[in-house]
Amino acid sequence: MYILAPSLLAADFKKLGQEVETVAREGAEYIHIDVMDGMFVPSISFGMPVIKSIRSCTDKVFDVHMMVEEPGRYAEDMKAAGADLLCVHQEACRHLDRTINQIKGLGMKAGVALNPATPIETLDCVLDQVDMILIMSVNPGFGGQKFISYTLDKVRRLRAKLDERGLHTDIQVDGGVGLGNVRQVLEAGANIIVAGSAVFGGDAAANVRAFIKTFEEFQK
Ligand code: DX5
Ligand code: ZN
Repeated sequence: MYILAPSLLAADFKKLGQEVETVAREGAEYIHIDVMDGMFVPSISFGMPVIKSIRSCTDKVFDVHMMVEEPGRYAEDMKAAGADLLCVHQEACRHLDRTINQIKGLGMKAGVALNPATPIETLDCVLDQVDMILIMSVNPGFGGQKFISYTLDKVRRLRAKLDERGLHTDIQVDGGVGLGNVRQVLEAGANIIVAGSAVFGGDAAANVRAFIKTFEEFQK
């Protein structure tokens, strides 16, 4: 099954609750929430209070992408704020195994993200522990960037590796994905698609419907 995860970074923050309700109503199963600390990435976005305030808008999965140094420091607070899935960067965790276990111990799904230049082999030891792997297709930190095409090969090789091990782990792709290239990303083996500007850059409801239609056509 293919899942759309609209990234709230591109939403209109003055009506954030409505934006969440719109994409949820149109069929987005995940709400992708980008948390940035100004250290791991240059920019600062938002944190727990904002997540908590929109939690009541929907029952859909809150997929929190932690672009934060040592994100384990916030795992408990993120759970309390309403995160269902906490995705941490491999590059930001000194003790990745511990952080994954911490997240799962709190009752959340655990995801691990890789920057474009980080090899998939860095996750070999923890592959069977994670619920989702996020292959970044832009350098994290900002919305609206251009898709880096060599990351497609990482997706392909990761899907093959998971298949070899009999794992049905989700592969998420984030950054520069739109209706024009989403098929290629699905073909490579991703099943969760993050889209920020491609959803909120225009009519969000219509854009969500268009993505879902593309998923359905692809599945045939
Ligand atoms: C980038 C974020 C993305 C971003 C994607 O650091 O992780 O989730 O919002 O935005 P688009 O889809 O516009 O590239
Ligand atoms: Zn993201």
